[in-house]
Formats: sequence, structure tokens, C-alpha cells
Amino acid sequence: MADKPASPDTSPNPEVLSMPIVPPSPDVVIVGGGVIGLSAAWQLLQDGIDAVVLDPAPGTGASHAAAGMLAPIHEAYWGESHILELNLAASRAWPAFADSLGVDTVDYRHNGMLMAAYDADDKALLDNLGDLHEQEGLPVERLRSRECRAREPLLAPGIRGGVYSPLDHQVNPRRVVAELLNRVPVVPVSAAEVAPHQVITDDGQVMACRQVVVAAGAWTGRLLGVPIRPIKGQILRLSGPEGLLRLPVRGVVRGSSVYAVPRSDGEIVVGATQEEQGFDTRVTAGGVYELLRDVLALLPGLSEIDLVETRAGLRPGAPDNAPIIGIGADGIVYATGHYRNGILTSPITATAVSALVQGHQTPLDLSPFSPSRFDARPTGRTPDPEHLSGVPA
Ligand code: GLY
Repeated sequence: MADKPASPDTSPNPEVLSMPIVPPSPDVVIVGGGVIGLSAAWQLLQDGIDAVVLDPAPGTGASHAAAGMLAPIHEAYWGESHILELNLAASRAWPAFADSLGVDTVDYRHNGMLMAAYDADDKALLDNLGDLHEQEGLPVERLRSRECRAREPLLAPGIRGGVYSPLDHQVNPRRVVAELLNRVPVVPVSAAEVAPHQVITDDGQVMACRQVVVAAGAWTGRLLGVPIRPIKGQILRLSGPEGLLRLPVRGVVRGSSVYAVPRSDGEIVVGATQEEQGFDTRVTAGGVYELLRDVLALLPGLSEIDLVETRAGLRPGAPDNAPIIGIGADGIVYATGHYRNGILTSPITATAVSALVQGHQTPLDLSPFSPSRFDARPTGRTPDPEHLSGVPA
């Protein structure tokens, strides 16, 4: 009879058991696992820099609520040329970013966006926006009511006209985050304190690294004292036959803004309210009512399909509505405050973060987005230890 092979010795090695548990020391620790933090980590890893993300619940904040409009033109506002420039550069970066993640995997679609006016006053508002588009040299087409309906037959016959932007595009943010989570290491902990070269987690671990990046979205203000505030957006998900709505539509309905973004699988995301009431993520009857009232005025055919989800997310907003991307006087890299454009600006923010970490030139002039623009202003905020978690941007 042949000898049995010796079984491996699985008894614990007393020497190993007595060693202290030392967390790994990556080059970069990113606080916040929303689309901004995850994209930055992915870019760093591609650039050969070891990066890890800290977040107790990655991808469950604003990125999970977001509709995924990549709409620099429809998100252009008077007096914000520097934000428009960043958003246009971000928009140009998206096709390659989507390609790197898988165009179908993230449901990236480049079919333009239509903005429609419900009544005469809404048309005046859109005409004013059209003037801004022309002044900025943006490629848009002003359309009559009938021309809008030819592009999107689901629009109500009574709409007064619109603006079509061929440059705007869209993606499914949940799929983007899921794909990034397949590629990026995440440690499920909250950050309690941050310094340029270390993070202390809420369970007392000290994580040392070469550079700390904070991408904690609406929670950044509580972690670092910068004047970032949460701006609540309630958002709905409907589900209907594939192709029911051809184009993403943004409407102005009796002065209120509403949008409907179709996915390839028949989901239609309807958003979003804009409310300033702190860290409140309740979905309210009034919020849902307003969104349905306005979207059905614009696209009455949606009334027959299923309402499958209601949710609220917190956009991170700075006082001047511009993101904060740069190295602060405290030596920390900031990547936050992306407000209404976190999904859009994720690839360019990621490239910028990697350049900042490596001391390279950034893809565009970041001086309008510098953290130091708020240095002279007291924030009046004191950190609240209960809310020092790295929650996604
Ligand atoms: N980007 C759309 C929103 O923030 O509602």
C-alpha cells in the first residue's frame, strides 16, 4: 500500500500570530468611493501608482442617484465660463473613458440631448440660454415645436420649441461605478482624520501613504472644513419598453427644470429636485409629485409605464458652484464639489488627480478650482465626529 501524502501543517505559527497587524502602505489613499474617488484610483493604477479607496459603502451616494447626463451644454449657465470650459474638456474625455470601461458595459450613448419649453415663458428662458450658447460658440440647433417632436415623438404636442445639442451624451453611472469597483481596491472603512500622508480610520487604524486625496463629496466639508454643502436631489426611475423615449430630454415646465434620461434597457431616469436642507435624504410626496407633474406635462406617454424606484442623493456644492480640484495649503489633494456634474467630470478629475500626485502638469488650468480660493473665508463649521465618513461624491 502506497504511503499517504503528508497533510500540510495548518496549525498556527505562534511567531506570525504575535506580529502586529500593519495595514498596507499604498502610494495614495483616496477617501471617498464615489465616481470621483474610484475614477481617480483607476487612473492612478493605470499610471503605475498604487492606490486604495476608503469607503464604508462605495458607490451608494450621489453616484448611485445620478442620472448620467454628460451635458456640458445643457448644464451651461451665465457667468460660469470656467466651469463650462472644464465640463467641455470632461465631455471630450468621455468617449475614451467609456471605451476603457466598455461602451456597452456602461451603456454609454452619444445621441445628443433635447431641451424643450412647455409654455411661452419657458420658451423665453430657453431663448436666453440659446443666447449664452451662441455667445460661447457652442454647437446647438434652435428648434420649433414640430421639429422637436420629429426628433422625440413622445413630447407633448403643445410644447413651444426647444434646443438640440448634438454634443451632449449619457452613461449609466451605476454601471460605471460597478465596473470601477471591479478594478479598484476598496477598504470598507470611514476616515476619521486626514493629513497629507496619513488617514486615521474610525476604527483607529493609521494608514500611512505618500499622498492623501479627499473625494468625499458632500461630506468633505465635515472632514476638512471647506465650504461644501449638500444639495439634495430627489430622482425617480421608471421602466418601460426599450426605445420608448429616444433621446434624453431636459424640459423647462412653468419655470421648473425636469429631465428624463432613457437607458438602453427601457429604464427612464427622471430628475431632479434641487433642495438645500442639509444631510436629508428623505424622499417626499411633494418631491415625487413635482417631478411626475412636470415630466408628464412634457412627455405624457410616460404616465402608463412603471414607477420602479424613488431616491434622493446629495450633490456636493461649493459657494461658487465650481468643483474643488487641487492641492490645499494643508498638503491634501482635493477632488470634490462637483455639484451637478460629478459623473461628467470624473475622467478629467481623475487625470488631474494623477497629475497632481505625480507633480506633472494638469490637463487644464486648475487655478479657478483651487482649494485655496476659500482660505480667507471662515466656514463657521466644526467637524461633526458622527459624520466623518468618506461618502462618495
Ligand atoms: N446633473 C443633473 C443633476 O444634478 O440633477
